[in-house]
Amino acid sequence: MAVAKRTFDVVIVGAGGSGMRAALALSEAGLKVAVLSKVFPTRSHTVAAQGGIAASLGNISEDNWHWHMYDTVKGSDYLGDQDAIEFMCRAAPEVVYELEHFGMPFDRLENGTIYQRSFGGHMQDYGKSPVQRACAAADRTGHALLHTLYQKNMQSNTIFFVEWMALDLIRDEDGDVLGVVAMEIETSEVMVLQARATLFATGGAARIFQASTNAYINTGDGLGMAARAGIPLEDMEFFQFHPTGVYGAGVLISEGVRGEGGYLLNKDGERFMLRYAPNAQDLASRDVVSRAIATEIKEGRGCGKHGDHVLLKVDHIGDAVIRQRLPGIRDISLKFAHVDPAQDPIPVVPTAHYMMGGIPTNYHGQVVAPYKTGPEEVVQGFYAVGECACVSVHGANRLGCNSLLDLLVFGREVARQIIEDLQRNPHPKPLPHDAAERPLARLARLKSQKNGESVAEVGVEMRRVMQNHCGVFRFPDLLAQGVEKIRTVAERVKNTMINDQSKVFNTACVEALELDNLIEVAQATMVSAAARQESRGGHARDDYPERDDDHWLKHSLYFSQGQKLDYKPVRLKPLTVESFPLKARVY
Ligand code: FUM
Repeated sequence: MAVAKRTFDVVIVGAGGSGMRAALALSEAGLKVAVLSKVFPTRSHTVAAQGGIAASLGNISEDNWHWHMYDTVKGSDYLGDQDAIEFMCRAAPEVVYELEHFGMPFDRLENGTIYQRSFGGHMQDYGKSPVQRACAAADRTGHALLHTLYQKNMQSNTIFFVEWMALDLIRDEDGDVLGVVAMEIETSEVMVLQARATLFATGGAARIFQASTNAYINTGDGLGMAARAGIPLEDMEFFQFHPTGVYGAGVLISEGVRGEGGYLLNKDGERFMLRYAPNAQDLASRDVVSRAIATEIKEGRGCGKHGDHVLLKVDHIGDAVIRQRLPGIRDISLKFAHVDPAQDPIPVVPTAHYMMGGIPTNYHGQVVAPYKTGPEEVVQGFYAVGECACVSVHGANRLGCNSLLDLLVFGREVARQIIEDLQRNPHPKPLPHDAAERPLARLARLKSQKNGESVAEVGVEMRRVMQNHCGVFRFPDLLAQGVEKIRTVAERVKNTMINDQSKVFNTACVEALELDNLIEVAQATMVSAAARQESRGGHARDDYPERDDDHWLKHSLYFSQGQKLDYKPVRLKPLTVESFPLKARVY
């Protein structure tokens, strides 16, 4: 079947913060850049980021990038690569000021500088007391950021393919990446987008879980495509559960609420975080707070008639501050919890939020994988950035507000690297003759399948298995059963059919294609979690409750073909400063 083809210098899949930051720098450098997005760009999931961007501006309390680096290394439970973490924390003030100059409407202090608030795990003086480091635009920081970047991209002539879904990577027989095959959602038209550089900025995949703060579009498309193309996925066992999703709805209630003075209560009205983190209290790192909530619930101190959530009290900061600093939270509470936070506490529960793992990259955004001659080499033409990438700056647990920072720093850096690489590589390589064969075959199978299973039902089962077998606390028997169950679900995915051809706008087909990607992520997560016999950051094993640096201070690499695992060392050496030595992690 003849498939249309277009050629660009760079194809970016995903129009969230990282994709748009990279696109801006690349377009401004005069390159022909296509950005594909399943949704209108300003509806990408970055728009939902609330609390802020971490950067040691020191506008309110004294701060510096080395303290920020320490917090990030500690927050990662020492699994983060210290070269990348130094790179990110050093660059933080610069990328925030850049954004300010792009026109980002940050909140302001009386003296005109950017407003900053406290966030979990961000401390002064190597962990002594909370610091105000999150640069915020009320509690709609991601919204402000995404609109700012979109407007700048409009100015710089970035080409957007709106409501297009990438289906598969194109690799040639050398393993080099030459672009993607994509589908226009409305029409099902398939096109080859050839490029000298292909950048994945496809975001997260917390939609593998039943209860998630993520948008429905967060289906791990980049990870699915990478896995199918033979690229391993790194550290997939580390998923972050945000402590405060709205009970029953999953919508995010920003850590910024606790940053503004809110705190958690159990059914006895006790501020239980004082027991779990005497120093940082409610502003301890997310994994610590989520485990504390899960423990309160497990031990019978949860709230409500089922005892299955806790309460976030914020009324004491007053209606005026809530309306000024937390207007979005007020809206969400009213709509999803039917609670006015100026009057009553918000019912909350830990909710799947962020994927620390992803496509393995170095801190220039180049994908590194077993390839050509060695076990860890740059894959020519392929880059990844933002949540779909594992740099790894977040290690086993990400600190709040480091994700917006990550996408700005590495979005800018990957663009610099692509510009440099393309100077050495001025002509596109020829495409393989069968570039579109595999995705076309998948589409044909989906559309012709009779008597298959419903995509929705298989998806429900996948999310149920992930939620019950791979949650905040992980148990050996549940993990072992989980590996088998998710394998069975994966077999069922191969037999799904589009049973609702009448649906407008091709959504049934898109959901089926998304499930292909989600199941790759779900399997990677379950298999990697079952194998890691220790507790570290977001991976808390009931049978191995301690961190085990002797055996497990290493990154996992999951290979989809054969479901094999391999491991590689953590880069403990920063770029210019001394390593932070391993020590017990207490808040
Ligand atoms: O709590 C929040 O506002 C979320 C921020 C983040 O995930 O970094």
